[in-house]
Amino acid sequence: MRQTFGTPPIKENLCASLSSVTVALCLITLLLIAIRGRKSHRKSQLDHTKYLPLPGPTPWPLVGNLLQMGDQIHLSLTHLRLQYGDVFKIRLGSLTIVVLSGYSTIRQALVRQGEAFAGRPDLFTFSAVANGTSMTFSEKLSPEGLGSSCLLEEQVCAEAAEMVKVIREQAAAKGDQEKTGIDPVRPLVTSVANVVCALCFGKRYDYNDKEFLTMVHINNEVLRIFAAGNLADFFPVFRYFPSPSLRKMVQHIRRMNGFMERSIEEHIHTFDNKYIRDITDSLIELCEDREENKDSSLLSNSQIIHTVIDIFGAGFDTIIAGLQWSLLYLIKFPDIQDRVHQEIDNHIGTARLPRFSDKPKMPFTEAFIYEVYRYASYVPFTIPHCTTRNVSLNGYFIPKDTCVFINQYQVNHDVDLWADPDTFRPDRFLGPSGLLNKELTEKVLIFGMGKRRCLGDGLARLEMFIFITTLLHGLRLENVPGQELDLSTDFGLTMKPRPYRITISSRF
Ligand code: HEM
Repeated sequence: MRQTFGTPPIKENLCASLSSVTVALCLITLLLIAIRGRKSHRKSQLDHTKYLPLPGPTPWPLVGNLLQMGDQIHLSLTHLRLQYGDVFKIRLGSLTIVVLSGYSTIRQALVRQGEAFAGRPDLFTFSAVANGTSMTFSEKLSPEGLGSSCLLEEQVCAEAAEMVKVIREQAAAKGDQEKTGIDPVRPLVTSVANVVCALCFGKRYDYNDKEFLTMVHINNEVLRIFAAGNLADFFPVFRYFPSPSLRKMVQHIRRMNGFMERSIEEHIHTFDNKYIRDITDSLIELCEDREENKDSSLLSNSQIIHTVIDIFGAGFDTIIAGLQWSLLYLIKFPDIQDRVHQEIDNHIGTARLPRFSDKPKMPFTEAFIYEVYRYASYVPFTIPHCTTRNVSLNGYFIPKDTCVFINQYQVNHDVDLWADPDTFRPDRFLGPSGLLNKELTEKVLIFGMGKRRCLGDGLARLEMFIFITTLLHGLRLENVPGQELDLSTDFGLTMKPRPYRITISSRF
């Protein structure tokens, strides 16, 4: 018999959905877990008296170091590293957090001692889905052989082409766009949302579909409330105070869950285990397997909903932010745009659109995208990690169940690593022969590293490449006359640029 999907209780809903809307929202769940201070079940293997005490700024009574953080937390923690080194602790309320900086130290923790630093609630089956039956994640050839290597490629490329069409239409409708420009955000958001919808639900939506637009709007609203950048966004202690915006967000999340549930119900009714259409089908299949063998229970009903929401959220805002930053740099640095155009002309030409296989042949474009990740560092911290046992790092003792922040922003702006971190310079990633310097690109930290590295990393890189090259294939982007371009941003869980407009012109 097939599973039916009840609505999970709202409290559970809230936690899971918060984590889903954007990768970084997991901060909240994880901090709550850390604050609960789970007791160690395993006896310590380390004698903590033999280690140096962790350095860090002196905490104030009650608030700890909260007030020293200011509103640009990534900059404050980067600054504190100069004084206290790669491993230091801060206190936020009653919660102790260990902040890790420096590429080698982070690598030592997340890769060499990966198991000990991999703690946090599991986002479970994503990798099981990827290894198993999902068409989108496997490299299956598409039946029609449309020149695409897999279904995912077809979806991403079609969506990017649709986005360019919509941008052109938007500019044409405007008439005077050369003077006042257009806002590229809406077509970006709808296209990226459609890719992730195809991944999760196996279908794309018309850009004017009411339900789709409502969902995109809700997602944006939730993110907007979170992106307000105040401490309550991710310091759980603030969540216990009544907050109108939090109430509003709970309403939004309920509607979002409603959309997901409807879609999942639809999948259950049309499910055919011989034809797995998308991630939702793969999860239902896992669920059916569980029915047959109750002991190997992999997923509960509400976990299916939450997993889909998790993937939906994780694959949405992070890509949009990456594209928003890319477009901003392309109009800010027109000579860099010229060089991407040149590479497109040399390797792709005008007769066809970009494909996944073009990526390794276009080192400058790849270098540009790496520089966007590095310079913007728009996911300044990973989702918090948690130690799974007592552990030592750089001569310091870190107890089990300690919440750990990984400062990706610091690594990407480390003078010792980059020499001129505050200059936007894609060429830094190219060797003398014009090829990508892999040793250096590996040092850009935006997807985390080790056991908890972003699971959508591969897809994200391809999606960024296809969207940027498809856009630049047919169009030249320019700044609106007189518009001051501001490259600064405010701290957030995913950091977005300040609003800007672009003008477009056809290249052929
Ligand atoms: C440019 C776009 C993206 C960026 C910058 C990004 C960044 C990140 C970061 C920093 C983490 C946390 C790593 C850690 O805690 O150590 C993460 C986790 C995750 N990401 Fe992404 N991500 C992107 C796109 C995507 C996409 C497209 C998907 C899926 C479709 C995705 C799915 C996930 C999942 C499922 C996790 C949780 C992994 C775990 O907990 O084990 N991400 N991502």
